Amino acid sequence: MRIYCAKDYYHASRVAANIISAQVIMKPDCVLGLATGSTPIGTYEQLIRWYEKGDLDFSETHSINLDEYRGLQPDNEQSYRYFMNTHLFDHINIDKKNTYVPDGTQSDSEKACRDYDEIIRIHGGIDLQILGMGHNGHIGFNEPGSAFGKETHCVKLSESTISANARFFDSVDDVPKEAYTMGIKSIMQAKKIVVIVSGDSKKDIVKKAFLGPITPEVPASVLQLHNDVILVGDEAALSEYYKAVQ
Ligand code: GLP
Repeated sequence: MRIYCAKDYYHASRVAANIISAQVIMKPDCVLGLATGSTPIGTYEQLIRWYEKGDLDFSETHSINLDEYRGLQPDNEQSYRYFMNTHLFDHINIDKKNTYVPDGTQSDSEKACRDYDEIIRIHGGIDLQILGMGHNGHIGFNEPGSAFGKETHCVKLSESTISANARFFDSVDDVPKEAYTMGIKSIMQAKKIVVIVSGDSKKDIVKKAFLGPITPEVPASVLQLHNDVILVGDEAALSEYYKAVQ
């Protein structure tokens, strides 16, 4: 694993955006695996800036997002489709037909998951997967205890994830209780993975995920088994990791 320690969130976002840019420049028709949450917002802002300057062209790029709340319409402001449109897709020249987010409105959950796995498969897999990390080590919406062998599936969100994500909703009761997410197996099949972490609140889980035992109890710990992972973090998020390895 390669680690980039940035001095702050802004700098970490630029590093992550640089890696994504390199991918898009080297392979314009690449498949990007994209993530939501507050962490990648700065990365997306940086990509938009470079696109506006004429440095990036996403016209041939495809994207496949990690997850979506079950039951939310794509135009619901809290849906991850809405998040991706407003934080990235509306501002760059990616063709929205080439952007995929699980269909949260599909009530047949088996069909929703099967269809999504098929989308990943027909695109030849993901070239570069961007990940954030939840405070309990979840990646996508793979909560502690998720089997490592799963592809896209429907999950019940844990209480800690519901309360962490409540800040985006009017009240905690409005947070959907289920989501569709790519599984750990789908994530691990990406050719390259970039994990972005920021802030003091992530420092303990970063240490646990990358130095602790590899266990479904800490879903991100599986990334220790991937052969091409880049961890991009700010000093605050990486502080406990560095203390432990020194
Ligand atoms: C959500 C998303 C994850 C994301 C996590 C962390 O639960 N499903 O993909 O990594 O939040 O969010 P944040 O970056 O806001 O800490």
